[in-house]
Amino acid sequence: MTLTNPPVHTPETLSPKRTGSTDPNLQAWVDEIARLTQPDAVVWCDGSPREASILSRQLVAEGKLIRLNPEWRPNSFLARTNPKDVARVEDRTFICSNDEADAGPTNNWAEPTAMREELQGVFAGSMRGRTLYVVPFSMGPLGGPISQLGVEITDSPYVVLNMGIMTRMGEQILTMIEAGDPWVHTVHSIGYPLVDANGVKRDDVEWPCNDTKYIVQFPDTREVWSYGSGYGGNALLSKKSFALRIASVMGRDEGWLAEHMLLIKLISPEGKVFHVSAAFPSACGKTNLSMLQPTIPGWKVETIGDDIAWLRQGEDGRLWAINPEAGFFGVAPGTGETTNPTAVATMWGNTIFTNVALRDDGDVWWEGLTDTPPAHLIDWQGKDWTPASGRPAAHPNSRFTVAAAQCPSIADDWEAAGGVPIDAIIFGGRRATNVPLVAQARNWKHGVFMGATISSEKTAAAEGTVGELRRDPFAMLPFCGYNMADYWAHWLAVGKSLGTKAPAIFQVNWFRKDEDGSFIWPGFGENSRVLEWMVRRLEGQAEARDTPIGLLPTADGLNVEGLDLSEKDLEQLFAIDPASWLAECDLTEEYFNKFGDRVPPALLAELASVRYHLKD
Ligand code: PEP
Ligand code: NA
Ligand code: MN
Repeated sequence: MTLTNPPVHTPETLSPKRTGSTDPNLQAWVDEIARLTQPDAVVWCDGSPREASILSRQLVAEGKLIRLNPEWRPNSFLARTNPKDVARVEDRTFICSNDEADAGPTNNWAEPTAMREELQGVFAGSMRGRTLYVVPFSMGPLGGPISQLGVEITDSPYVVLNMGIMTRMGEQILTMIEAGDPWVHTVHSIGYPLVDANGVKRDDVEWPCNDTKYIVQFPDTREVWSYGSGYGGNALLSKKSFALRIASVMGRDEGWLAEHMLLIKLISPEGKVFHVSAAFPSACGKTNLSMLQPTIPGWKVETIGDDIAWLRQGEDGRLWAINPEAGFFGVAPGTGETTNPTAVATMWGNTIFTNVALRDDGDVWWEGLTDTPPAHLIDWQGKDWTPASGRPAAHPNSRFTVAAAQCPSIADDWEAAGGVPIDAIIFGGRRATNVPLVAQARNWKHGVFMGATISSEKTAAAEGTVGELRRDPFAMLPFCGYNMADYWAHWLAVGKSLGTKAPAIFQVNWFRKDEDGSFIWPGFGENSRVLEWMVRRLEGQAEARDTPIGLLPTADGLNVEGLDLSEKDLEQLFAIDPASWLAECDLTEEYFNKFGDRVPPALLAELASVRYHLKD
């Protein structure tokens, strides 16, 4: 859709507080980017509700956001992206470390000086006819010992609105920067200037972006440059770019961990509190687990984070964690009244939806929200849709952006400045075969081995064989800002420092299948039974049987009361077939070999030990 009247931006009404910063580095950087990108105006965002209201009204007036019916969904909006800009672009994501070996074999590396020159070319004039927004933000509670500051420059008001939900954004952060706090530099342009180098104007479009995309991290200087995409992880630079890729490098250098993990508080029937973090690859149900409603009586799960955790050893020697974000950027499809009623309740209002379907009554819908779809919708591309259309109404990667504070299950300590002490760490993948429902690591090193071997089957595999595995170590494959083997070594070093105070480590797999290809384990709220077993292990109340691949529940160890599971189902959930496990060990060795001599010897020793016990 072409818009006829590009609106006149009025930065004065947007930011009465400031026209600049007294911090010379910040001011010089903003000036430099403005000189390069040539926007019409520069706005220093104050993070106020008034500012958000002005921006959303402006986007609605321009046809770039649809205001949802306030009766159903107050202060909520729908954005529809260009169909070519709907997901993270991993093949256009670069780690530009000075030394190529530091990026490692799993990242795209580009030589930093050459990449800087290339970026100067694409960013030159990229904001002509637009406003440059300066977005200061804190990852984690302001001033907390694990928190970090950042600034994103962007020419997308949609990004400003999302950043206002996903981070603690605004004026106070500028004051902290001016007082000398360090901060990470991030620059974003959608790459759709409205005026060309000759001064020729063009009309704006509903979702401006560019076919050429760059998501570039410079870990050595803690900088991010993103061009050409307005979508989620590509454009909200606080999230994957800073909180994972850059922060993982900061953690390596400073002795802490930046992880692709949810964070929950677990309360037992006796009222005892445990904090658990869990790493799963994208689309394995992290948001669902973070908002789980236990089916077993007396247990409670409270939410702290659904995607990212920063963990650091505290003065007491234990590992403490924060959720550095302030909101959820969740996948909509599959989020419904039965699968995740808490998430549905969270988005009652003040929510930005991206690429979901629009109902005739001005509310939203997506596959899985309700069992029966409405008779008529406008799909994510703005076209008429009925259940007979034969295509999804919402894009499979459509999203909701909403403040964590709105979540009914949010934990009272979710914003504790120093974080929460971690009792257990969980690693999970999506495996049809081999990996049992739950196993405890024998020790930290064995746990690091479990994390390093997280994977999902690419194709349907039969029990007793191993399908081709999509490796996603620590669920960090697209997010680790340095050499993955060095990252494993860093985890081992952190474990050494934690010593006996280290959290217990578990591996889970909700996705094991039977011969007919059906999931054996019911999942969702029933996963609380697995959490219960973990807590009983922590409390020394449950025995485990030692197997070649880890400590498994004894025959009656897992509470399966009331579940429709046969003896055979249970056996299959925990079956360890030595032949297919040995075959998997060969694949793991092949995978480790890709990292050459940077693989920590302790991981090779773990692999040797698993093999040795399988052959027993
Ligand atoms: C994203 O793509 O912006 C994002 C949050 O990714 P994911 O859901 O894959 O973690
Ligand atoms: Na994605
Ligand atoms: Mn994620």
